[in-house]
Amino acid sequence: MDAENSYGWCAVDDTDNIVGYSLLKVEGKEGFFELTVVHQDFRGNGIGTALFEERIKLSKSLNLSVLTLNHWFKMSSKEPFCAIKYGFSLSEVKLNFWLNQSLEYGYNCMECKKIPCSCKCLVYKMNLRING
Ligand SMILES: CC(C)(COP(=O)(O)OP(=O)(O)OC[C@H]1O[C@@H](n2cnc3c(N)ncnc32)[C@H](O)[C@@H]1OP(=O)(O)O)[C@@H](O)C(=O)NCCC(=O)NCCS
Repeated sequence: MDAENSYGWCAVDDTDNIVGYSLLKVEGKEGFFELTVVHQDFRGNGIGTALFEERIKLSKSLNLSVLTLNHWFKMSSKEPFCAIKYGFSLSEVKLNFWLNQSLEYGYNCMECKKIPCSCKCLVYKMNLRING
């Protein structure tokens, strides 16, 4: 998939059913690592890691300078999947990050279970180019 500045990858099983996907959004020279999801029956086989690596490969070939990953802090996943291993580091903590969105769309957050959502967002970044 390649729609304007968004890129996506799908993982498929032997009969071409989608079992995982991952998204990268590009704005100028910045890449945003969006969702990665793998079907629960297929987890633990390296699919999530492979999808993560594909995004890094494309980001490098597009000559992006910085990658950003917004992590929804959860007690069950305090650190984002794969990010530290591949060189991301924590750059900022945004409190009540989804507050306005949860009011606008009227959803109950599954993590904090509050309305509006009081979850915090951990912003991770990685520089891809040392000079410029
Ligand atoms: C996170 C996810 C994509 C991993 O997919 P996967 O195909 O099982 O990943 P891999 O097989 O490549 O890697 C599994 C490793 O990641 C770890 N892992 C799984 N979920 C994790 C998470 N949320 N955060 C950090 N690490 C995680 C596993 O413990 C395992 O570690 P190990 O190899 O040391 O045992 C999958 O569990 C998922 O879809 N989770 C729900 C959505 C989600 O939390 N996505 C990530 C944020 S966008």
